[in-house]
Amino acid sequence: MPETLTPLPAGFSRCMVDWQRQHGRQSLPWQNTQDPYRVWLSEIMLQQTQVTTVLDYFPRFLGRFADVAALADAQQDDVLALWSGLGYYSRARNLHKCAQEVMGRFGGVFPRRAEDLQTLPGIGRSTAAAIAAFCFQERSAILDGNVKRVLTRVLGYGQDLAVSKNERALWSLAQDLLPEQASDMPRYTQALMDLGATVCLPRKVQCDVCPVSDLCRARGQGEPLAYPVKTRKIKRSSVTLWLLWAVNTQGQVWLQKRPDTGIWAGLFSLPVFDSEGDLRAAWADGQEPQYIQPWKHVLTHRDLHLHPVLMTGSAQNAPDAEGQWVDAAVWPGMGLPAPVRALLAG
Ligand code: ADE
Repeated sequence: MPETLTPLPAGFSRCMVDWQRQHGRQSLPWQNTQDPYRVWLSEIMLQQTQVTTVLDYFPRFLGRFADVAALADAQQDDVLALWSGLGYYSRARNLHKCAQEVMGRFGGVFPRRAEDLQTLPGIGRSTAAAIAAFCFQERSAILDGNVKRVLTRVLGYGQDLAVSKNERALWSLAQDLLPEQASDMPRYTQALMDLGATVCLPRKVQCDVCPVSDLCRARGQGEPLAYPVKTRKIKRSSVTLWLLWAVNTQGQVWLQKRPDTGIWAGLFSLPVFDSEGDLRAAWADGQEPQYIQPWKHVLTHRDLHLHPVLMTGSAQNAPDAEGQWVDAAVWPGMGLPAPVRALLAG
């Protein structure tokens, strides 16, 4: 029988909801609220970042931007500075744009339906469903990376998720598994997230504490780690960046705002060059170049080979690169890429 026609495991949502009540995470700062601003902010932060890190950034961000109106009014540089260290800065740029669209298109009130939430910058289908489920009890399925793993295992869904038709089929199965009672949606949604984050892990499974192990087809087959099936490999690339670390006699450093697209978009960085020759040509007045030990900074799809060159000079002979001298007391509060910040901090 084709896999998509096999009956869904009965009782799945009930087991998940009961388990969440007893064993799930209950008191994270973005739980126990139906405020879509808080839930949205937490979901965006949690997309590529560990809970422990978000526990640190989330209250700081709220302390600065208490609501969507305050965020919409902010300068992009201030948003990026608060995001500094979280990485994936397109999240912060979209967050800011999204706040402005909520103000402009929706009168400052987040829309309630996943379908409408999904039209906002940075809110994909799964994030839209999470917000609608947590805040408005909408029966809408989430399907992020963790949930794909949980559901393909439970369902024994062995089709290749790199093929969009198969991914669409899994969305449909995820929708079919939802609890009938809309009031169960927040807890059910949290249960899927909690199970994926704590029990049904990528390379390790704890089936002995899993609430749905009896229903789980992957476990029945003795092959929980065989799912999800994904054939397409992400292509990694690698790039070499020469960083001009220009310091003047007053201890200021030359920083430039990166363009709106490309690497470190919108952040403040040391000027970036493709080659040592280009870098040296950009500051002929720089004295005593010191070649800092290069290192590799690993991003999701790309390795950055960073080659900083430290040079000193007078404030009058600025580098021939867009930018400005910035005091040592000022740059720590700016939005810098994590490796540049680490370099400057020594
Ligand atoms: N990851 C994504 N959303 C989450 C949430 N609401 N709680 C914990 N981890 C999450």
